Amino acid sequence: MCGIYGIINDKKNQAAQTVLEGLKKLEYRGYDSWGVAIIPENGQKLKIDKHIGKIGDATTNLSQGSIALGHTRWATHGGVTDINAHPHLDCTKKLAVIHNGIVENYQEIKEELLEKGHQFISETDTEVIAHLIEEKSKLKKINEAIFETFKLLRGSNAIAVLDLNSQTIIACRNGSPLVVGLGNNQYFLASDVPAFLKETNKVYFLNDGEGIVLKQSGVTLYDLETEKEKILTPQTLDWKLEDAEKGGYPHFLIKEIYEQLTTIPKTTSINEKEILELANKIKSEYKVVLTGCGTASYCALAAKYFFAEAGIDAQSIPAYEFMPFSKFIDEKTLVFAISQSGETADTLIAVKEAKKRGGQIVAVVNARGSTLERMADVVLPVSAGPEIAVVSTKAFTSQLSTLYLLTTAVRDRYKIGQEKINDLSKVLTKWLNVQLINQLITLAKTLMDEEHMYLIGKHLNYPATLEFALKIKETSYIHAEPFAAGELKHGVITLIQKGTPCFVLASNDEVKAEVLSSAAELKARGGLIIGISPFESNEFDILIKTPDLGDLTIFPNIIVGQLLGYYLGVGRGADPDKPRNLAKSVTVK
Ligand code: AGP
Repeated sequence: MCGIYGIINDKKNQAAQTVLEGLKKLEYRGYDSWGVAIIPENGQKLKIDKHIGKIGDATTNLSQGSIALGHTRWATHGGVTDINAHPHLDCTKKLAVIHNGIVENYQEIKEELLEKGHQFISETDTEVIAHLIEEKSKLKKINEAIFETFKLLRGSNAIAVLDLNSQTIIACRNGSPLVVGLGNNQYFLASDVPAFLKETNKVYFLNDGEGIVLKQSGVTLYDLETEKEKILTPQTLDWKLEDAEKGGYPHFLIKEIYEQLTTIPKTTSINEKEILELANKIKSEYKVVLTGCGTASYCALAAKYFFAEAGIDAQSIPAYEFMPFSKFIDEKTLVFAISQSGETADTLIAVKEAKKRGGQIVAVVNARGSTLERMADVVLPVSAGPEIAVVSTKAFTSQLSTLYLLTTAVRDRYKIGQEKINDLSKVLTKWLNVQLINQLITLAKTLMDEEHMYLIGKHLNYPATLEFALKIKETSYIHAEPFAAGELKHGVITLIQKGTPCFVLASNDEVKAEVLSSAAELKARGGLIIGISPFESNEFDILIKTPDLGDLTIFPNIIVGQLLGYYLGVGRGADPDKPRNLAKSVTVK
């Protein structure tokens, strides 16, 4: 997944620098390399500036101009090199192409173009697009050449082309997100709204199969199939710029962890009508299937336990393993697709398949205007606000509290559910204090040089260990392996030696004793037992005390994992907002 940003009519005539500032706001989408192309004033040739690595405080030496296009890359095809960085030019050096996605048939297109004498300098699939447009524009107007080229590309893609001759930016979307910003005689193109939110909140989210032409006189929308003009209906977003800023915090991750004190209770005041309607459907024998990827798949698994509490046998299937089970989807199946971005390829593929089989899609999504939101039959927006840090936190807890509220509605206890979630945030607000933070910083220092750690949890705390471990892995790059507590004696206890850090996630629930005996087994093998629990125990060498909130204790138990991951990551010199090799949402299979 990559970040795309373009501007026409830059008021400061510093379009290249403006694009660079916009790309900095999109860097969570990929940070292997970046690049900018500009039409210099009275320029005869496009000017390009591209580099490997994070943008950081980079500036560009590109000259003045009011039209520019830029890209921040998450490498899929071709190594992380300056040459492979986007934009890519055609042979005439009058077309600059940037791309988000994968061109699955690029090899065969390349072979044909090589036979026609085109010269390629990079290993990327993207460069093929520039040369194919060049080839087609020999016989067609530039829009048509670009639309026709785009329709030949297989896979989920979004492209943007800076054309010197027509002084325009032309873009197409099929799968990967694109949004247009309509400013005051300034026009923006981006992969996500925060990039230009400072300039305008008047936007148009492109749909699959749409193309857009940005020129100095304005913006025109096209249907790619017919290549005919379409009416562009913008919407005005109620997003505030500070939502996408750090707000005085050193990193977005720690800011978003603290924001959970307000985002979790917010879920009690939204979606009531949809939640009660869905509860009635579930009570009238609709099957429940929950799916998502990564952190969202752990939310699905935790929700499965909440549904079981409500007497509902819900299926939780990670989206990347969905297909073998799609045959069980039918008209009486509610498929809850959980996603922060609403753009994750595997989740969208699972949703497409479920729709094909008649399933009703319920999107439990954070980012507004996303593809998932537009594919869904029912939308439960969790409204946690823009989540910029790659490591998901507030979106996860808002998705989980939304699904928890649904299970309370199934038990005709929605009001009680709302009260419990509101009480949860009041208790979290008291608990998330300096003492806790100091204790976690001390623990992080203790564990800083560890390369392996293990986690156990039982019942609801099992999905909590999966999410806790993922936060540690994503932020600190430490190998953290979660197990169901009962799994230990079936093999994995071999991994425990003297001093091996072992986290025990527990609640005051019906399996408290069993979890403590598993802790004792780990201790007997020399494990350093770290309790994440509302109760003391002699089994614990270290205790991070969490509030006793019954079945909602997994919320603070997971937040400990978010915070510990943050302090371990910072301590080990990792970038908590942009972990290596990751991107905010994975728009390729
Ligand atoms: C979570 O911290 C990761 N960024 C990743 O596992 C993420 O949850 C997954 O890629 C799904 O993304 P989505 O919620 O945007 O669909």
